[in-house]
Order: sequence, then C-alpha cells, then structure tokens
Amino acid sequence: MKTSKVLLTFDILTLMPEMFLALSDYGVTGRAFKKKIVNLNLLNPREFSTDLHKTVDDRTYGGGPGMLMMADPLVKAIEAAKKRQSSLGIKDSKVIHMTPSGKLLSHNKAKELSECKGLVIIASRYEGIDERVNNWVDEEISIGDYVLSGGELPAMTMMDCLIRQLPGVLNDDESATQDSFVNGLLDHSHFTRPEIFKEMKVPEVLLSGNHEKIRLWRLKESLKLTWRNRPDLLAEKLLTKEETRLLEEIQIEQEQDSI
Ligand SMILES: C[S@@+](CC[C@H](N)C(=O)[O-])C[C@H]1O[C@@H](n2cnc3c(N)ncnc32)[C@H](O)[C@@H]1O
Repeated sequence: MKTSKVLLTFDILTLMPEMFLALSDYGVTGRAFKKKIVNLNLLNPREFSTDLHKTVDDRTYGGGPGMLMMADPLVKAIEAAKKRQSSLGIKDSKVIHMTPSGKLLSHNKAKELSECKGLVIIASRYEGIDERVNNWVDEEISIGDYVLSGGELPAMTMMDCLIRQLPGVLNDDESATQDSFVNGLLDHSHFTRPEIFKEMKVPEVLLSGNHEKIRLWRLKESLKLTWRNRPDLLAEKLLTKEETRLLEEIQIEQEQDSI
C-alpha cells in the first residue's frame, strides 16, 4: 500500500485504549492509518497517576452521585501528549474534551478541525472531569443531545468524521463532496441493481442517461428529504433560484397529495 505524509496526529487520553482498535483497524479509517495519513497515540491517564493504586477518579465536592476524573493525572497526560506532538513538529495542537455540555459537532466544525495538524482528545468517563482541567482545554465538543457512558465513542465518531475529510483517504468513487451537510442539504436517495426489486422500480430518470435531468432529480430529492426531516437546515441555507423553484414545486406537490 502506498504511504503518504501524516496529515493529522491524534493523541487520545482514555481509560479504555483498546476501544480505538475499532477505528484504527477497520474500514475507511483503518485504511487511512495503514497509509499513514493519520497517526494515533493512546495515553492512559492511569499511567500518570502517582498513587499506589493508579487512582484517576474521586468523589465530587458538594456531594451527589458519581465519581469525577481527577485533575492531576489528566493534566500530566495532556502535557505529555502536547510534548510528543511538539517533538513531531506540531506547534499548535488543540486540546478537545468530548462532553455532552460542549458545542455540537457539525460538518463545518469537522472540516475546520480536520485542518489542524495535531489534536489531543480527552475521552472522559464517570461524571466527566474536574472543572480546573478546562484551563488546558481549547474546545469542548458534544456529538449530540444525549448522554453516553464514556467519551471513547464520541471521540471515535469525531475522528472518523475528520479523517474522511482528509485528502487521499477516500477513493474517487467514495468522494465526500456529495455527502449530506456538505452543501447544507441531506443527501438524495440512491438505488442499485436490480432494476426491479419486489415490484418496486428504480426511477426512470436514473436510467435515462440524461445527466442534467438526473442532477435536477437528485437536487429535488435532496430538498424534499431536507424539508421533511431537517427543516432547520433549510432555514439556515441561502437557496439558489433553482433550489427555491424546486422547493416550491415540492410544496405544491405535497399539498396536492394531501387533498
Ligand atoms: C456519563 S457521561 C457524563 C455526563 C455528564 N455528567 C453530563 O451530564 O453532562 C461520561 C462521559 O461520556 C462522554 N460523553 C457522553 N455523552 C457525550 C456526548 N453526547 N458528546 C460527547 N461526549 C459524551 C463524556 O466524555 C463524558 O464525560
């Protein structure tokens, strides 16, 4: 396999490093690691705990349920990760804490982060981290309005999203430029062989070979899906004249269908 220059270096702080094999050993992301487009280093905060039992968590001040990740092992791990990245020539590493109280991850945020050379990501556990660690954190990121048991899956979700933006990761036929959110809309529907499946036929226009008609059909499908499932995206998007016309057509068709 052809090797490339490392475009993005990750240092992950996690109590469960083995979980990251799901990312580094499989699929599109696995290929990016094998091609050395991305570099991954896993640090376990336990290795930075100075106490005999390698303790990394403690009860919260003020009482209440749950434990919290202690500041000292985490800060030592962040500093070690930044030092490693600096030794690789990365001077502007960004430290990110995955947390449900962070800003929501979006396509634009992923694109922006994929342009960093180095990221140090804290995948925390328990109730999260001691607030004072935030003095070492540049950004807090959430992957959605729900709570998971740990930061490993959120970190891997974000990393996958960043990695697929990097040049050389996707093959031509897997291009990310057509994906949902890239142009502010959801992706249109797709069909593959057979032409007829359980009496359901592939839309005629897709078999026509007429590229302009196919482009228009796909754009209209994208608009229809976005209007139906994510009207918030349409409210944020500056529509072209063509998109406005297609959306009006969709709304008229919808009204006629409901009569
Ligand atoms: C059980 S959660 C802690 C939840 C925290 N007490 C709260 O309510 O915001 C444990 C860890 O999982 C990770 N996590 C859970 N849900 C997440 C989300 N939606 N986005 C990013 N990280 C998340 C964070 O690293 C968090 O510290």
